[in-house]
Amino acid sequence: MWGGRFAGGPSAIMREINASIPFDKALWRQDIAASKAHVDMLGAQGIVTAEDAALIAQGLDQVAAEYEANGVPENWDLEDIHMTTESRLAELIGPAAGRLHTARSRNDQVATDFRLWVRDAMDQAELGLKQLQVALVSRAGEHTASIMPGFTHLQTAQPVTLGHHLMAYYEMIGRDRSRFADARSRMNRSPLGSAALAGTGFPIDRFRTAEALGFDGPTDNSLDSVSDRDFALDYLMAAAQCSLHLSRLAEEFIIWASQPFGFVTLPDSLSTGSSIMPQKKNPDAAELVRGHSGRIVGCLTALMITMKGLPLAYSKDMQDDKPPVFEAASLLALSIAAMTGMVAEAKFRTDRMRAAAELGYATATDLADWLVRQANIPFREAHHITGSAVKLAESRGIALDQLSIEDLKAIDQRIDDRVYAALSVEASVAARCSHGGTAPDEVRKRVAQACVALGLEEQA
Ligand code: ARG
Repeated sequence: MWGGRFAGGPSAIMREINASIPFDKALWRQDIAASKAHVDMLGAQGIVTAEDAALIAQGLDQVAAEYEANGVPENWDLEDIHMTTESRLAELIGPAAGRLHTARSRNDQVATDFRLWVRDAMDQAELGLKQLQVALVSRAGEHTASIMPGFTHLQTAQPVTLGHHLMAYYEMIGRDRSRFADARSRMNRSPLGSAALAGTGFPIDRFRTAEALGFDGPTDNSLDSVSDRDFALDYLMAAAQCSLHLSRLAEEFIIWASQPFGFVTLPDSLSTGSSIMPQKKNPDAAELVRGHSGRIVGCLTALMITMKGLPLAYSKDMQDDKPPVFEAASLLALSIAAMTGMVAEAKFRTDRMRAAAELGYATATDLADWLVRQANIPFREAHHITGSAVKLAESRGIALDQLSIEDLKAIDQRIDDRVYAALSVEASVAARCSHGGTAPDEVRKRVAQACVALGLEEQA
């Protein structure tokens, strides 16, 4: 492609280090689409003849059909998908193929192809996350009143409902969706026509190619356009944060599936056995989701460090932008799919959850709140009185509501019989009816709103 300037060819090492075709062949669909948009514009603007433009477009269709049928050939001499496609085009249609690269450079070409690929990846992530939200909401709808212990520090804190717990992940995933949507709207401008770095003297129409490729319009600075990989970083940042959320959900399932907890039975379809311990059912899918988040964050770090300190405009370092994005995208897609299946198919052992909520003095705060409300005691003092009650119950190995009224009165005279109604886990969750609280009525409201937001039939 640049033989005119060179007396000798590249060494074997040069060819190998230079080749991006082993990974950028994944861009072939985008490369063909961008080339077709470009040549259509070249024809419309009279930069190439209508005949040549038609010939090139047909040739590109044929190359695409070959790729579809046989895959993309990997010839390191051709470096990347752009030269691979152009060289095959030349074999098919002859010298007219050489007109395709008029008013274009691989620098704006790769920036365009990669943007198109990342845009699809954003759309796919968004769609997958919506399915995960659907699974979360539908399970939450089944369990708006199923009581489980809520934790802080992984210590029993207050009773909550399973529906409320699942809806917490609905919120997180909603923020992830909005991060992908936000990144998409920011990146949806076409760099095509920025050429090598400075634009071109040919009378191109960048608005036409932008529109043909589904962009909102062309980018406004050619130097920025060929050196910008913010869209890939935005994608990776959204993916990294999303993967953190998925890892947290995965971790919940791992803990819940352990024998001492026994809150959930994982679907067989997303578990594995042990080759030596016949009783084992391991949460491998969840563990791998937890693990994959580390790799996805690694992908983000890799591209951030690649881009750090690069002067304008294109530098070859930027060829390394694709592998981390491709890797993150496939890990993220798998992680989303695995967690969606896990949420949809897990068997929640609500009896075990409820029994666990009875332990650990989860309703101690309710006793303190009762003292505030019924006896007008300042909360700090109520907290202290309740602490004494918990200490007494603990020393006897019984629950708070198993203390006799005499025992409670001995701690504080102002306590009376009515307190027992406040100490059940049902009363505890029902009382937490503040906006966004765990009360079944409140969770039902949130589930109903989520169903509307997701376009689902309401079921709660
Ligand atoms: N293979 C290159 C990449 O992926 C294409 C752009 C090459 N541009 C250049 N001036 N060498 O980044």
